[in-house]
Amino acid sequence: MRYPEELIEEVRMQNDIVNVISGYVRLTRKGSSYFGLCPFHNEKSPSFSVSPGKQMYYCFGCGAGGNVFTFLMEYESFTFVEAVKNLAQRAGIALPELEYSREEQLKADKKSVIMEMNKLAANYFYKQLQSANGVRAKQYFLERGLSEKTIKHFGLGFSNIYSDDLYQYLRQKGYKDNGLLKESGLVREDKKHGVLTDAFWNRVMFPIMDINNRVIGFGGRVMGEGQPKYLNTNETLVFDKSRNLYGLNFARTAREDYILVCEGYMDVIAMQQAGFTNAVASLGTAFTSGHARLLGRYVKEVILVYDSDGAGTKAALRAIPILREAGIRTRVLNMEPYKDPDEFIKNLGADKFRERIVQAQNSFLFEVQVLEKEYQMEDPESRNSFYKAVAAKLLVFREELERETYLETIAKLYHIEAKQLRSLVTSVSLTMSGETPVNKPKSGIQKKTKKEDGRLYSQRLLLTWLIEDPALFDKIVPYIQAEDFTEGCYRTVAHMLYEQWEKKELNPARIISRFAGEEEQKEVAALFNTELKEITTKEEKEKALSETVYKIKENSIRYASEHLDPTDLEGLQRIVNGRKELQNLRRLHIFLD
Ligand code: CTP
Ligand code: MN
Repeated sequence: MRYPEELIEEVRMQNDIVNVISGYVRLTRKGSSYFGLCPFHNEKSPSFSVSPGKQMYYCFGCGAGGNVFTFLMEYESFTFVEAVKNLAQRAGIALPELEYSREEQLKADKKSVIMEMNKLAANYFYKQLQSANGVRAKQYFLERGLSEKTIKHFGLGFSNIYSDDLYQYLRQKGYKDNGLLKESGLVREDKKHGVLTDAFWNRVMFPIMDINNRVIGFGGRVMGEGQPKYLNTNETLVFDKSRNLYGLNFARTAREDYILVCEGYMDVIAMQQAGFTNAVASLGTAFTSGHARLLGRYVKEVILVYDSDGAGTKAALRAIPILREAGIRTRVLNMEPYKDPDEFIKNLGADKFRERIVQAQNSFLFEVQVLEKEYQMEDPESRNSFYKAVAAKLLVFREELERETYLETIAKLYHIEAKQLRSLVTSVSLTMSGETPVNKPKSGIQKKTKKEDGRLYSQRLLLTWLIEDPALFDKIVPYIQAEDFTEGCYRTVAHMLYEQWEKKELNPARIISRFAGEEEQKEVAALFNTELKEITTKEEKEKALSETVYKIKENSIRYASEHLDPTDLEGLQRIVNGRKELQNLRRLHIFLD
């Protein structure tokens, strides 16, 4: 399934990373690294670094990173094998033919086979739309105001009126494994008649792409009335609705520092066509924390552009706390009197829409405004209950200053005394059984994650130090071995790195090639590119290093005791020894030359 490791390494070495990336990104030298504007997210000042020494790139903004293979996988949407082939050709290295056994193809490569089928299907639907078969569908899109250019840009298509058109096409292209065809979500089993049919027919088609422009699924709409209005690919190995957003492949490079989140395919397309290329949609599914994290990689602010009906408001109310939890600032756009952005733009145009973006309401004030509708504000009792509800809501702000700012705004808005609202907040917080006292940190879970982050941070930090200054190995090895790294991926990488050091062949970029997926590669690159705190003097570095060694050892022993098999006496002895050693490490001071 894979090329021999030596060959992959040969290809990597013959393609200097600065050289390759310069073909895509303008780089400027700064110290021992090169910097440029990150091609994977929108930014105004360069945080994308390429290190000739490490032969790696890393973006301090969005966390994209890896070696020269990863770069092509991310930038060109290549698979690992495609990236190797491309760079081999660039360097004039001949590669042997890869032989896939059927089994291997099914197992290790199922995902890429499904991706291939999706790509073929998207092309097929697109061609159908452009052919005589697709006249009505084309008409449908044009009547909805889409230009030919937009249709092409989004790869919109048409699934034929025959119920097994695509199925036959894929078979003819060599995809004969019915099991896999079904797993792709493109084909379904008609149990009644015992045959396989297409999942989509006689619908206009919207290919759904991941952030790297690979087709992972489809939405299909009936032309005109009919139920269901939209059909979407079911979850497959490559299609996870809770982790993908329609349009993000374009939106992530839009030159804006916020993203517009709406409900539907047509909304994204209409907005992007009108110039708002930073529009995305969660696809007929509720907004998830996975979506929020994904967005957080690119922007700090989201504007919700949900339908202006009851369902849209509900959806917004659900999304707001999720975004807040992910640390994303949120505002809500008012589309009245139109239902959705598609209709708004068609009727009032892009300029008016831009005005609404500027006017979009702070999400907390939006929540309060919706809440208000549940009360009769003319009735004193009801109005008091409303104030109490608002006071309770204000408790979501854990920082006093932030809460105070909102409190004052609300007081002004409803013509009440800030002082009175403040005392209401205090009393509400007390009656809430001390569970959410005003100034306490969020929850135990949160605290734990933070601590865990700290542990992982120490491990990442040491890995980064070691590759930036290999002379440190001699000082560290007496205390920290590869086994002391606890997280799965950290330990694997540490083993590889220590092994390279023993062989006197330190080469972190090579380690990255041993992971085939770009997500894994990115993770490994992050281990070697930990952001270093400001350390200027030798003494500071010695102190930081000693503390880090202590933390890693302490964590390693804690981890070992948590995972100790009670019958493992040797393991127990190791832990006892480790604890003694740790006592000594407390006074450890590592001296640098
Ligand atoms: N949706 C879906 N299945 C449905 C209805 C809706 O998956 N049966 C999803 C689609 O992603 C759709 C979004 O929810 O784009 C919003 O639905 P809706 O507001 O009903 O449709 P519009 O986006 O307005 O679609 P259109 O303008 O084409 O009518
Ligand atoms: Mn619509």
